[in-house]
Amino acid sequence: MSPSEARKSRLHPARMGTKLSHFWSDLTREHGYEPLKLEGDVPGDLAGTLYRTGPALTQRFGRPYSHVFEGDGAICAVRLAAGRAEGAHRLLRSDGFVAEERAGRPLYQTAVSWPRQVANGLLGRFKNTGNTNVMEWHGNLYALMENARPIAFDRELQTIGESSLGGVIRGAFSAHPHPVATRRTTYNVGLRYGRKTHVAIYSLPWEGPARCLGELPLDHPVMLHDFMATEQHVVMLVSPLRLVIHRAILAIGDFPELFRWTPSAGTEVIVVPIDAPERVRRFRTDAFFQIHFSGGYEEPDATVVDIMKYADSSALDVNVADVDQPPQAGEVTRIRIPHGSERVEHERLCDTTLEFGQHDQRVAGSAYRHLFGLTVDASHRFALAHVDLESGVEDLFWFPDGEFNSEAIFAPRGPEAPEGDGYLLTIVYRSSSRTSHLAVFDARHVSDGPIARAHFDHHIPSGFHGTWVAAARAGAA
Ligand SMILES: [Fe+2]
Repeated sequence: MSPSEARKSRLHPARMGTKLSHFWSDLTREHGYEPLKLEGDVPGDLAGTLYRTGPALTQRFGRPYSHVFEGDGAICAVRLAAGRAEGAHRLLRSDGFVAEERAGRPLYQTAVSWPRQVANGLLGRFKNTGNTNVMEWHGNLYALMENARPIAFDRELQTIGESSLGGVIRGAFSAHPHPVATRRTTYNVGLRYGRKTHVAIYSLPWEGPARCLGELPLDHPVMLHDFMATEQHVVMLVSPLRLVIHRAILAIGDFPELFRWTPSAGTEVIVVPIDAPERVRRFRTDAFFQIHFSGGYEEPDATVVDIMKYADSSALDVNVADVDQPPQAGEVTRIRIPHGSERVEHERLCDTTLEFGQHDQRVAGSAYRHLFGLTVDASHRFALAHVDLESGVEDLFWFPDGEFNSEAIFAPRGPEAPEGDGYLLTIVYRSSSRTSHLAVFDARHVSDGPIARAHFDHHIPSGFHGTWVAAARAGAA
């Protein structure tokens, strides 16, 4: 890439903090499972595999992407059993990625010339990167991104290819499926942009075929990164972050510049009864913004969802693009939606601001007590947090300067362990050695620090979301 091209890229090291510049750089090595060097003791009752994905290339054939969201996805996996840890790391070879390999040049995104970007926009050509999340369903693994179909991959991290989940996914399948444990079903949404934008709602029973519960028209093309499912409802909070279609098609500006924050429109609340989707409730309230939800459940007279709340969408850009500035975390906020009314109640749940909120997925869709997440302070120090929503105790571990944790995934100590009794698994980047490792925490004693670390001999680039597959299910067909 030319120096001027590189400077324009948000991924150029000169635009990043020096400690993070390598973290947001290309993967250096692909490999299958190999032993990881251990510090501390991996608990013997922690058995399964952590799968995570994230953008792992900042360029194609020397042509830089302008935004980290464009990066080609790579899966990082850590397999834990009998106190040992093995790690694997491989790029996803999607159809678009393979087409570029064959062509010997970039074909998509901002790595191509502006005329080609416009042609791609007009013709609907894009590359599915699978760089945002991992889902396990029916024993199969899928890499997900915001606005595309799932990409299946196997347990050795070899890419299988795009899937429509049995012909059900017609448009896109978002990167944030949510299980509802008592229904033994995972739910997801998918946007379809066009003359009119629609959102489809998908039901993925843990035993049985996927189906589409229905499609709703939206007033505007928007960004809808996450939603929540409870035992009775699918809840969408559609913030007024509108896609500017002509900018998207004509490739004017990079990712954040394709959207416009229009607070006068307010946030649309959409509550869809799972068993009677035609009885959807929709109304608007004052504008607010969330990237992620951390949970949701039903009360006798209200549907409740928890979010990391921001005043506007600027957090989206700061969090992932201008990494030389401290990223933001949101105010953990309970949104209570009383039945039969067109208003919502906001309640701040804890002092600590969080992102990547998670809880024990065995109670997903129901009331939960233990919230886990990532926070960061103004001096760019990162922490793992546990918030006991019942007692109000906030238990944090601040990583030393130069260590950066990612989303923490909860793994229960065993099938019968109480909610929140288990381990937190987070991939940590250490700038001094330019390597990454899995840090294992006892979820009940976060401030004590990691009880074990399993070290890769290379870094794992950035990374967004992932999933834990317990060993009992790891061998499922
Ligand atoms: Fe996300």
